[in-house]
Amino acid sequence: MDGRFEQTDAGGHIAALLNQLIGLNETSIGSAGVQRAIAQAMQAAGYGNVEAYWQHLQGSQAAIAALIEAIVVPETSFFRNPESFAFLKRWASQTGRQQAAEAPLRLLSLPCSTGEEPYSIAMTLLEAGLSAEQFQVDALDVSAAALAQAERGVFRAYSFRPGQSVTASLDAIVDRYFQREGERYRLSDRVRSPVQFRPGNLADPMCLYQTQPYDVVFCRNLLIYFHQVARDRAMRTLHRLLQPSGLLFLGYAETNQIHPDQFESIRYPQAFVYRRVASPPAQSKGRSVANSVANPVPTPALPLRPGLPVAPKLTPDVAKSRSVTPPIDPTLPSAIRPPRLPQPAVQISLSNIRSMADRGELSIAAAQCDLYLHTHPTSAAAYLLLGEIYQGQGSDEAAMQAFRKAIYLNPTCVEALLYLALRYEDQGHLAAAERLRQRIQRLTVDD
Ligand SMILES: C[S@@+](CC[C@H](N)C(=O)[O-])C[C@H]1O[C@@H](n2cnc3c(N)ncnc32)[C@H](O)[C@@H]1O
Repeated sequence: MDGRFEQTDAGGHIAALLNQLIGLNETSIGSAGVQRAIAQAMQAAGYGNVEAYWQHLQGSQAAIAALIEAIVVPETSFFRNPESFAFLKRWASQTGRQQAAEAPLRLLSLPCSTGEEPYSIAMTLLEAGLSAEQFQVDALDVSAAALAQAERGVFRAYSFRPGQSVTASLDAIVDRYFQREGERYRLSDRVRSPVQFRPGNLADPMCLYQTQPYDVVFCRNLLIYFHQVARDRAMRTLHRLLQPSGLLFLGYAETNQIHPDQFESIRYPQAFVYRRVASPPAQSKGRSVANSVANPVPTPALPLRPGLPVAPKLTPDVAKSRSVTPPIDPTLPSAIRPPRLPQPAVQISLSNIRSMADRGELSIAAAQCDLYLHTHPTSAAAYLLLGEIYQGQGSDEAAMQAFRKAIYLNPTCVEALLYLALRYEDQGHLAAAERLRQRIQRLTVDD
């Protein structure tokens, strides 16, 4: 693949898809790096032609997941930035222990890559005198391969980065928590048991949407790969995920993302740690930037038919693990809208997206609809379809937002009115539902 790759429509569109799905700012790894990763994923999938590969991507979540695996950078190590862990230990042995006496501490490592970071957190808490029952570390990453490796809990010497973070105390920790097996180091169950791994995408605004807040969040060395819209969104998500005075650890190159109205700096040299402060200023209603997820969960077939008001719901568990793609608010000033994406070579049409949704490819259909809305930001039909897809994914709130946008853009959109009326009825908002039904009746009688 040569340097003209991105100038091909399909190449530009693949880069745009990554930008949408995982927040990737391609300049962070360089366009040569992006090209290499795409070439590798293309080759692994048996494609020599970018246009054909783009077609393939459009119909397959597995293909998208494989592309993401090729593009992500899983670089990590135990006790990376040791001062962050020195501060965590200090906090855990005082405040953390007091809090843990009331309820187990909740910590998050996102992204956790191959596990070195969340396991370092667990070892630090054990070293601070907490028992494994007194805390829980949720560890999320968009890469299924990284998560699988993390779950195994077996590492090579490279994970300890000799020369970078090996100290006498680390040697003692290795002796305490690992078992040598030839060239490998097997982590003890005591460290593994409080750490739970699962897929997650920080570029998804619904990431961990209904989760209890955390006492401590590690989000290190991910924002550097995000474009600015994804960074801003991620910072809002991190704020939402934290307890009122919760701690946020960032990577050293990411501290410029801190907004003083969201977080205050804790002055501990080289720890890059912040405390959550009051809520950020309220977003204008419906402000949502285009986004999506690459959550490689298989999607059951779910027929979506135009005009059919109630799409069957997925089970809450499946729905929770799904990606959601709230639409762009067409009323937003362009300065806060996501960057305009390249026009796809293979034109996305709403009927193609609907067929995709009918085949059950809901996540990719949502992402495609989102892309479509970048170039057709006033399409009521696209918002209607997006609402139906969200409903199929079990994301009622996002669905209702999309239906409201469809109605805003086309006040006579009977299907969206009907969907909303039904949702209001489900939620017990009978007066609101009745108003909508009367509106529908007026519209259909006038017809
Ligand atoms: C450089 S590693 C950082 C790991 C660890 N936090 C650390 O600092 O050592 C970046 C990780 O981010 C993950 N990643 C990339 N995009 C992501 C996204 N949108 N959501 C969640 N994880 C993502 C990659 O799979 C990779 O494992």
